[in-house]
Amino acid sequence: MRQLILLAVLLLWLAPATAGEPPEQVHLATNALGDGMIVQWGTAEATTLLCSSASDIEYGPDPDSLNLSASGSWEMYDWTTCVHTVELAGLAPNNTYHYRVGGDGEWSDVASFVTVPQGSRPVRIGAIADHGISSDAEATTQKMRAASLDLVIHAGDISYANDVGSGGVADQSLWDDYQNQIQPLAATVPHMYAPGNHEDEAYYEFDAYETRFYTSGSNPFWYSFSFEGIHFISLSSEHDYGPGSQQYNWLESELQEVDRQATPWLVVFAHRPMYSSNSAHGSEVDFRDAMEELLYDYGVDLAVWGHDHSYERSYPVFQEEPLSNSTSSATEPYRNPGAPIHVVVGTGGRSLYDEFEEPQPAWSAYREASYGYSVFEVTPQGELHFSFIRNSDGAVADQFWISKAPSPGPGSGDGNGDNTTDPDGNASDSKAGWQQKLEELPGPGLPVALSAMAIAARRRRRLLEPVAGQQEIGDAFGQ
Ligand SMILES: [Fe+2]
Repeated sequence: MRQLILLAVLLLWLAPATAGEPPEQVHLATNALGDGMIVQWGTAEATTLLCSSASDIEYGPDPDSLNLSASGSWEMYDWTTCVHTVELAGLAPNNTYHYRVGGDGEWSDVASFVTVPQGSRPVRIGAIADHGISSDAEATTQKMRAASLDLVIHAGDISYANDVGSGGVADQSLWDDYQNQIQPLAATVPHMYAPGNHEDEAYYEFDAYETRFYTSGSNPFWYSFSFEGIHFISLSSEHDYGPGSQQYNWLESELQEVDRQATPWLVVFAHRPMYSSNSAHGSEVDFRDAMEELLYDYGVDLAVWGHDHSYERSYPVFQEEPLSNSTSSATEPYRNPGAPIHVVVGTGGRSLYDEFEEPQPAWSAYREASYGYSVFEVTPQGELHFSFIRNSDGAVADQFWISKAPSPGPGSGDGNGDNTTDPDGNASDSKAGWQQKLEELPGPGLPVALSAMAIAARRRRRLLEPVAGQQEIGDAFGQ
């Protein structure tokens, strides 16, 4: 017996020391100013308590010589996946960087990303929600991977790990599977998330969401970041949003501080839609009643939602009244929409909800239950081109565009139409920096520099003049 014990000790001593676990689930996020890259990955550890793997990155512009390095930190929750986070700062704009993650002899394959162009070309933002693990979800990821995206915003319901847990505990291995499924895209293009109802998991609540994803603020559920002339605000429809709540107060303060000279475009995303005519869920009326006024008053351009597994685009709308219902012209964008345009992008791959309310509400411009992704391209000339790309045939199923550039003058269109652009959703490149154009650009119905006086006047006007037709629309659809 003693000899056996000695032999076991000897074998353990001779065994090579484990240097850590192989990296997987590699994914990127952008930082608050959009000028750095956050790199995250997971390692499968032996326990839920201790991470034995390193948090190192080697990177550089030459894939054959990763001559720069950085280290970060790790975090675990009540699961065996260790989440590593490293911030890369001081990156040169419009450059390709190659990198690998891990350390101590366990390294990932080399991946790459492209830094922001700083006005030297348009940027392309992908938008999805309600993704999950399925062949359709994987197809969406593959299509997005081929779309030359600079950023992805995800409006919640991410892995659906909460659906499969036994004994009332969400199955965290599905998060690992999901993050490996999206790694080919997420290791190359930064993703930013909003929490959905499926991120509120049995036993874990929002632990997986909070630990696995970087958010650029002090609160993981509502935060903001700027990216190439666009200020993004991510909200949570899953937490208290009513007037006086922490989230509401934060949003109001955040909107007051947005610099529309530096970031002319203002985009909000969250999970439950303020506007949806899908019969499965429909408009989240409480959410809309609480926060729509702020989005309107402060000139939000675009609001992106999920939850209903379909695509739907509204006309510019406030309190259910469309401010324009023109059906597009070939050459004329929205120039002064006057209210946010809302899009539901819950087409990522989880499933489809194909029954819509009839008749189609007056505010609803287009709706379709197909898998696919949305993409909007923001040009240095002050244009935003939005497209919904259907997975099955790769076609542009819907599109519109908004321009903040000065109108070319009489005879060029009616000035408030929605519109089409070139079929692949790509606007033309330009060498002009968007910074050079900013002083010329009007906001969505308001000047770029949205003064406190202008906001107060707009609020007074709205309060004195109730929105025409609002009651009729509300009655017609029982809202
Ligand atoms: Fe949902």
